[in-house]
Amino acid sequence: MTIQWPAEAIWEAVSPLWPSFSVEVLPEIDSTNTELMRRARAGQLDPILLVAERQTAGRGRLGRDWKSDTAGEGGTLTFSLGVPLAPADWSGLSLAVGLAVVNALHPALRLKWPNDVWLDGRKLAGILIETAGVGDTRYAVIGVGINLSPREATDLRTPPAALQELLPGVQAPDVLGQVVPVLVRMVQRFAAQGFAPLREDFLARDLLNGQAVVCSDGVTGTARGVDASGALLVHTDQGLIKINSAEVSVRPAPPPATVS
Ligand code: BTN
Repeated sequence: MTIQWPAEAIWEAVSPLWPSFSVEVLPEIDSTNTELMRRARAGQLDPILLVAERQTAGRGRLGRDWKSDTAGEGGTLTFSLGVPLAPADWSGLSLAVGLAVVNALHPALRLKWPNDVWLDGRKLAGILIETAGVGDTRYAVIGVGINLSPREATDLRTPPAALQELLPGVQAPDVLGQVVPVLVRMVQRFAAQGFAPLREDFLARDLLNGQAVVCSDGVTGTARGVDASGALLVHTDQGLIKINSAEVSVRPAPPPATVS
């Protein structure tokens, strides 16, 4: 099946903001993030949107695999945006990107710190941000994977949600055209102003706020939103602590067992 991608429309929307911007769609690649990181290390540092109709070795946060279906017939939308960036402070970029995805898609979506997109207690989309280069200007590769149609994923702790539950019949090209211009504007805003002005918007979408949470480093407590740098605030027995490590994953605590 040939997929009609809105490459031209996206290029027209974004190139006034990023003059050397290009759009590339590949039928298959190991991972759009891996490919843009390879190119960046080889010196290709222009802004680009790379879309893959199929990824054979998709990657997630914390060294995990990211399994996805092909983009045709619903499936999964997988793309990466590569852009040179020099924000005064990088903290909170992943939260800003998650916010852009949620804002672009549907008001029912929520963000699970730092940047997972959830629907009704299940993960709908994941974001992987990597950077290459040295100095003030680094090349950021922002990878986004969005589940469009319901799929089997017995290997996942939480079964995935699908965007078609909210938007019946929605297809990968529509979603790409909806998300990318919003994401580009968000990246520009973040580069200019950082995360602090986005904090209130994040809190309005924050899935964990007020919930009992368990962190992968053993910390347990109640999530209390994020600070102006995007660090997760957790109220613990030892007081309020900040979690800002990208290496830590956080999940809602399981409900206490009932004794009958
Ligand atoms: C996560 O949830 O842990 C992040 C998943 C990120 C998946 C996307 S799909 C496009 C891009 N290419 C990859 O290999 N990963 C990201």
